[in-house]
Amino acid sequence: MPEDFFGEPVAASYDDDTDVRFGERHLALESAFLAGLAGDRGRALELAIGTGRVALPLAARGVEVRGIDLSEAMVSQLRAKPGGADLPVTIGDFSTADAGARDLDLVYLVFNTIGNVASQDAQVATFANAARHLRTGGCFVVETGVPGVLAAQHDHRYRVFHHADEHHGIDEYDPVTQLMWSHHYTRTDDGTYRRNSVPFRYAWPAELDLMARLAGMRLRERWAWWDRSPFTAASPSHVSVWEKE
Ligand SMILES: C[S@@+](CC[C@H](N)C(=O)[O-])C[C@H]1O[C@@H](n2cnc3c(N)ncnc32)[C@H](O)[C@@H]1O
Repeated sequence: MPEDFFGEPVAASYDDDTDVRFGERHLALESAFLAGLAGDRGRALELAIGTGRVALPLAARGVEVRGIDLSEAMVSQLRAKPGGADLPVTIGDFSTADAGARDLDLVYLVFNTIGNVASQDAQVATFANAARHLRTGGCFVVETGVPGVLAAQHDHRYRVFHHADEHHGIDEYDPVTQLMWSHHYTRTDDGTYRRNSVPFRYAWPAELDLMARLAGMRLRERWAWWDRSPFTAASPSHVSVWEKE
């Protein structure tokens, strides 16, 4: 099993994040996008279901959602929420774990979490694992950042992405291995800072398309965001939909 970077205390405060993606309006947008692909009463699998941030609003739209996650602590948070105990969750590595279902309409992996599997082999395996749970014509959706090209140059190895008293965030890039360490320094109640450093493997959209092709899927849509805004050379993120052939 890969290392768990989402144990306590990360899980306990995960949903306190002020990122736009935790807001009700955003979750309505994201769950509508996903429900549209799953179809009415569709069947879906979330790779890295976590605390159910997306799975619960999607289930509230009538989609049958199940999940895979390796963190017991994150899944306990999900279980404690209304309706959270009803979603089947497999504890395991989403690049290989079997969620016990086939011919699903939708598999999705959001919030940059494809990067949490920190090698190319494991990412290729993740696409294959998504494909084996899907029916022909079913879709795999990934939401992730586009690697910061400038930040990946050797003289811009560190990028400050957040700077406030309660939290400092610094991304550290290694363009040779395509590894990016995200260092979070979060202020605790006694005024000291707790450091949490999480490795990601960053990959450009074209590499993800190739992984999808290896898994028997083809790109169907690529947007900059969940509102279907156009993906351009300046987009910092993408929401990509591959269809199983
Ligand atoms: C940023 S959270 C995202 C949770 C949820 N998908 C969301 O959007 O709020 C990342 C989640 O991925 C899980 N995770 C990371 N690597 C994993 C792996 N290889 N297999 C299963 N779960 C993994 C973590 O335990 C954590 O719950």
